[in-house]
Amino acid sequence: MKDDPKFFEKMRPLAQSSIWRFMRAFYDRRGLSAWTEGTVPSQVTNHAGLAFVYSKLAAAWVDDLVAEGALGRDQTVYALELGGGTGRLAYGVVKHYEHVRKQLDLPRICYVLSDFTETNIDAHRKNPALRELVDAGLMDFCTFDATNPQVPTLVESRQSLGALLERSPLLAVANYLFDSLPHDFFRVRDGVIVEGLCSLSSADGEEPEYKHREQIEDVKLHFHYVRTQLPHYGEGTLDRLLEFYGELENVSVLFPSVGLRCVESLRAMAKGRLLLLTADKATTHVEELAGDREPFVAHHGAFSITANYHALSVYAAEKGGLALLPPPRDGPLTYCVLRFDDRPNDPRRLEHAFDEAMVQQSPTDWHTLSWHLPENLPNAKLEYYLALLRTSGCDPVMVTRLEKELMAFKAEPTYRQLREVEALVERAGEVYLHVHADDPFLGCALRLLVAFELDRALERFVAKMQRRYGTRVDIAALLDKARADC
Ligand SMILES: C[S@@+](CC[C@H](N)C(=O)[O-])C[C@H]1O[C@@H](n2cnc3c(N)ncnc32)[C@H](O)[C@@H]1O
Repeated sequence: MKDDPKFFEKMRPLAQSSIWRFMRAFYDRRGLSAWTEGTVPSQVTNHAGLAFVYSKLAAAWVDDLVAEGALGRDQTVYALELGGGTGRLAYGVVKHYEHVRKQLDLPRICYVLSDFTETNIDAHRKNPALRELVDAGLMDFCTFDATNPQVPTLVESRQSLGALLERSPLLAVANYLFDSLPHDFFRVRDGVIVEGLCSLSSADGEEPEYKHREQIEDVKLHFHYVRTQLPHYGEGTLDRLLEFYGELENVSVLFPSVGLRCVESLRAMAKGRLLLLTADKATTHVEELAGDREPFVAHHGAFSITANYHALSVYAAEKGGLALLPPPRDGPLTYCVLRFDDRPNDPRRLEHAFDEAMVQQSPTDWHTLSWHLPENLPNAKLEYYLALLRTSGCDPVMVTRLEKELMAFKAEPTYRQLREVEALVERAGEVYLHVHADDPFLGCALRLLVAFELDRALERFVAKMQRRYGTRVDIAALLDKARADC
């Protein structure tokens, strides 16, 4: 017989449950080690291919605004990344966008990397590669709490983002964030809306101290359903969305009350001109909400749930905005692009870029292809591994993952193969952000350049990484080791 659950919290609206407090405590205490120690997944939302696609979408949006006469080529556009985690996506987007900007003569973007916790922002400010971007006027930082959105003051320039947005539209990036923001939970059946109130139990009935992952994983959620009626929130936007769901038959809805309030605040801050790029594990189509379900809560040190991009798209339509969602597709991640503009506008370049990069293809294709990579793929040629690297956008983690396979071809490479290995390793180095002392990419890139005897590229790579990371990494020692290993 099962023991009765031992509750330490009872019957709260899900968005007010303590699980969100536990989640914040986790990120706040762990800082960047939340990712470097491997508990929170980050590769799928931070890889170079996704940064490439985001920069392409940003460029298309900026190009639309320039073509409409709403933005001058000499203006600076501000971007705000919410919940930026390791900063790797930010670094990749800035690097890729700068490349496109120069090719297409587009306005500059100053990318503001934010998180709710100062722990992460302090770490980013000390990263020499991010400082390079600050010195070039391409990056700034701030704290920004999506559960309590306030107009931030930028840490480096000390300017208010609100004042800067008088002259600039806002590009917001929220990757793997909506699934970490408080949601409410409702079920609808036969025209009746019931709210899932959440109780929490643990093995001993005590609230965990969040010191160990296991303690937090031990927390169980239990739902008790009570009838509710409209207006439930007393806030027009949220109540209209709940009314929309209330008219459906038999659905279970994670309701992004906090996320929507945050998007409203971003729109207000941006004076109506906002592009939001977001990726998550999320529902995108109303059919996915059918049936009686309970929220799936993933544990990875922190908690996360399945975000509801369908709700964001309904919200955008109501506000006269544009919502772009990829078709239903299997895989670990989906995307949502929202564009708002109070003035007459023509988003054709953005729509085209979205179709090309997110509908015809997917930034996660590379992840899907490589995730199941057999350990020793028999008879695979070097061109296979090089193609995988290319489709990953020359992702540094992918380089480290394929090191053994690439090394198998070091003995007699052709001229073309040599040039490709050289170009791919150098491009990976260009978008690589060194976050943690144990990050393996630098050592791996050096070994590849040594083993394939790419001496000139090796010289360039060492000089660049010396300049960039010389104060925190002993590049000469890494090179000696790479030579000894090869
Ligand atoms: C799952 S991680 C995603 C990190 C990164 N964007 C990525 O894709 O790897 C969630 C991030 O959101 C941040 N976060 C959590 N609650 C937040 C809030 N209320 N406002 C802003 N950021 C928050 C965490 O500190 C963490 O950086």
